[in-house]
Amino acid sequence: MRILVLNGPNLQLLGMREPGIYGTGTLSQLEEHCARVARELGIEVECRQSNHEGELVDWIGNAPGHFQGIVLNAAAYTHTSVAIRDAVAAVRLPTVEVHLSNVFSREEYRHRSYLAEVAWAVVSGMGFLSYEMALRGLAARGKE
Ligand code: DQA
Repeated sequence: MRILVLNGPNLQLLGMREPGIYGTGTLSQLEEHCARVARELGIEVECRQSNHEGELVDWIGNAPGHFQGIVLNAAAYTHTSVAIRDAVAAVRLPTVEVHLSNVFSREEYRHRSYLAEVAWAVVSGMGFLSYEMALRGLAARGKE
């Protein structure tokens, strides 16, 4: 089983970006964490990050045939992007929407997600563990 882990805008700045909200771990540490969990689960992960909405749309659209699930932190695009929502709906791969922070305890504009209605599951507020839970969930679902 291969899982595509996608991180959206500004997540390349993890570690220095609002550490009180997002923690001090860097993007490469987050990706290493995902790789470690994947090894434990006997699955494969490929991690990518982009600040560009269209690139995320392309990666999601090209995922079928290469990946069996997606872990998606679309970051700010979560709250704005019909295009990413439509890409997730189109590919019909089980997708877990993840957030490092608890978006529901933050500003009201973060409470709205265009992705949640097409996601298989949503994990928000557990830092790196949000990604770990998403990978564990997809691996378990794949075995059902
Ligand atoms: C985020 C939450 C979003 O509201 C924000 O725009 C991000 C990161 C998170 O992981 O907590 O960039 O997706």
